[in-house]
Amino acid sequence: MMHNGQLVAVKKVPVNLMTHHDMDREYQIYRKAAHPNIVKLVEKPRIHSDNKWYIIMEYISGETLEKIMFNQKLTHRIKSKIITGLCEGLFHLHNNDIVHQDLKPDNIMVKSDTNEAVIIDLGFAKVLPGWPQLCTKYWKHSICSSRDPDTPLGSARLSLRCVGDG
Ligand SMILES: Nc1ncnc2c1ncn2[C@@H]1O[C@H](COP(=O)(O)OP(=O)(O)OP(=O)(O)O)[C@@H](O)[C@H]1O
Ligand SMILES: [Mg+2]
Repeated sequence: MMHNGQLVAVKKVPVNLMTHHDMDREYQIYRKAAHPNIVKLVEKPRIHSDNKWYIIMEYISGETLEKIMFNQKLTHRIKSKIITGLCEGLFHLHNNDIVHQDLKPDNIMVKSDTNEAVIIDLGFAKVLPGWPQLCTKYWKHSICSSRDPDTPLGSARLSLRCVGDG
């Protein structure tokens, strides 16, 4: 829908499912997460007359990775563009001590014009200072070729391992 002349996506959450405190926390995480590969909130979420929180986001014109990932027409060039965008976004989150905690193809959108990946749905995200160090024991056992958590790919792998290992 249009909001102040901008195309936006709105997520509505019943008030009984989300306290002011939790919504404010989520909003602060979105602010901290500002990056081209992370979805942006257009304004601070507030409760509307239908008793729902309105989380108003920039509209991403595209599809979720879940929907397109097995599309035969995805060339290597497009796939690498998607993966690079995803890693850049994830790297930015991790550099800001944010753990997404719900990263999956359903929560990654791909812009149809540029194939840029945009990470969405920070509803489960947490700020956890120093969290990569907490995962070192998993990292040590990693058989991945890219082991450096200070690179986008390494950081993404580390996150996926941590998610995979619970
Ligand atoms: N900013 C956006 N622009 C365009 N579409 C979006 C945007 N955010 C979400 N969507 C669409 O809405 C779907 C659900 O969004 P989201 O993942 O944030 O909510 P959710 O609570 O996880 O809902 P669900 O349980 O249905 O996945 C996405 O998979 C995507 O198709
Ligand atoms: Mg989702």
